[in-house]
Amino acid sequence: MPKTGVRAQTISVKDLPPEKFTRLDEYINSLPSTKGALIDIIYKAQEIFGFLPREVLLHIARKMGISGAEVFGVVSFYTNFTMNPQGLHTISVCMGTACFVKGAPALAQRLQEKLGIHEGETTKDGLFTLKNLRCVGACGLAPVVMIDDKIYGRLTVAELDQIIESYQKEAAGVAH
Ligand code: FES
Repeated sequence: MPKTGVRAQTISVKDLPPEKFTRLDEYINSLPSTKGALIDIIYKAQEIFGFLPREVLLHIARKMGISGAEVFGVVSFYTNFTMNPQGLHTISVCMGTACFVKGAPALAQRLQEKLGIHEGETTKDGLFTLKNLRCVGACGLAPVVMIDDKIYGRLTVAELDQIIESYQKEAAGVAH
């Protein structure tokens, strides 16, 4: 499904390890031809970098001798590609009908306020990426929020706060 509203976060090329560019170049050079290989190359780049910063896309365009617009066009079209860095945990609020009716918008709103990011973005500390998703088939538990592959159902805003804080505490504990 095509996606809308691609929002890239600003990453300096200095933050991108040169050895990752080398790995990407080795992959591109190993191909018999780059003709028709654009999607494979973008996949490989996402595997290596974890996401697709602007600089990487321009690098691919230069390497392949095509325009940056062509590469950006492919990345914006496919939902599997992301131009934003991904957090350690992905929080997805179900926006399917049952969850929507039972209060998902308030949960999504609270997450945006609490984490200071919008859907599709990652917190500055790299802990969370925020996403919306459609029905996960657990409508009896609506409203549903998924964190990574764990489902939290019948959530109130207060419970969601506590869950987020427990992840933050756990991360702080790991860091010290
Ligand atoms: S609508 Fe959210 S789980 Fe079905």
